[in-house]
Amino acid sequence: MNAKRTLAVMTGGGDAPGLNAVIRTIVKQGVTQLGWRVIGLEDSFDGLLETPLRIIDFDRDQVRGILTMGGTILGTTNHGDPFSFRESDGSVSDRSVEVAERLKLLGVEGLIAIGGDGSMGICSRLMKERGVPVIGVPKTIDNDIPGTEITFGFDTAAAFATEAVDRLHSTAESHERVMVLEVMGRDAGHLALASGLGGGADVILIPEIPFRWDAVLGKLMRRRAFKRHFSIVVVAEGAKPEGGSVTEHMNADGRKSHGGIGFLVADEIARRTGLETRCTVLGHLQRGGTPTPRDRVLASRMGHHAVELARRGEWGRMVAMRANRMDSVELSWLLTQTARQLSLDDDAISTARALGIVFGDEAQ
Ligand code: F6P
Repeated sequence: MNAKRTLAVMTGGGDAPGLNAVIRTIVKQGVTQLGWRVIGLEDSFDGLLETPLRIIDFDRDQVRGILTMGGTILGTTNHGDPFSFRESDGSVSDRSVEVAERLKLLGVEGLIAIGGDGSMGICSRLMKERGVPVIGVPKTIDNDIPGTEITFGFDTAAAFATEAVDRLHSTAESHERVMVLEVMGRDAGHLALASGLGGGADVILIPEIPFRWDAVLGKLMRRRAFKRHFSIVVVAEGAKPEGGSVTEHMNADGRKSHGGIGFLVADEIARRTGLETRCTVLGHLQRGGTPTPRDRVLASRMGHHAVELARRGEWGRMVAMRANRMDSVELSWLLTQTARQLSLDDDAISTARALGIVFGDEAQ
């Protein structure tokens, strides 16, 4: 009797709403329809590298009811690179050969890795240097992965950030305050632009357009002069003033993250204008919660496309949305690319400008 085709699936990097919808599709199609064995690796590669192994041998029942759940039932980590694996004693070692060996021992034909640019880079190396067949499925709330027009998680995060702008509006108006909202997005302004435009902000600061203080303050003072006694400023965590750099903060584990620019902007506005100003940092709230219908559908389609690629033996590719259709790009190509930022000729930017929203580069 022939052994069942066996696939492994893992989630890597920061989570994004929709991960469970991808896992569910891979298991439902793979196990139920195609009769494959699907193994889930827990906590990225950690579950595979530990003894005893932490893996899930999926059956249909294990993915019941997870479509609407945020997070990932497999768990994830963004410091699980097997090429420089951090051991429990703090030392770092290359465990990539073990990854390949253990997958082989489990009879795994190939790995479907659901992750961001970091995970895609690791998987591309695993394939090239260790001979592990891999298919990538892109995820991130930042929507900044090259090669795909959209990633799941973005719509959920943008909806949440837009609701935050809506909520800030009423309290800003009651107190006649300037409300600054810092949103995530790393070095791309997709989230800030979507929530700022969707929520009707007055100023949107994004990494792609370094801002000048005079342009930002000018807008706020003009609103004041027109008897609009409150304002909403949406700031991407990667935004920076002209000639300045990205604001970062050091986490307790010694890892740096983008963030802090919101308070900096709020303080500067208050100091230079005397306007009462408050800052809200949305942080990881943007990554949690149930995925929107759009993200559930997108994640399910991406999971299905990954299974189809595996079925055809098209390893070394990342699932991608191109011209509004499910497609794929070479994983190795991805490594030559940088984060997909907003294009300055994006009509969402010109729409915002037409609405009087300021990006901080306007002549005064
Ligand atoms: O890439 C997703 C993201 O949420 C970014 O928007 C943010 O800068 C980063 O991850 C935060 O990472 P961490 O979960 O390590 O704090």
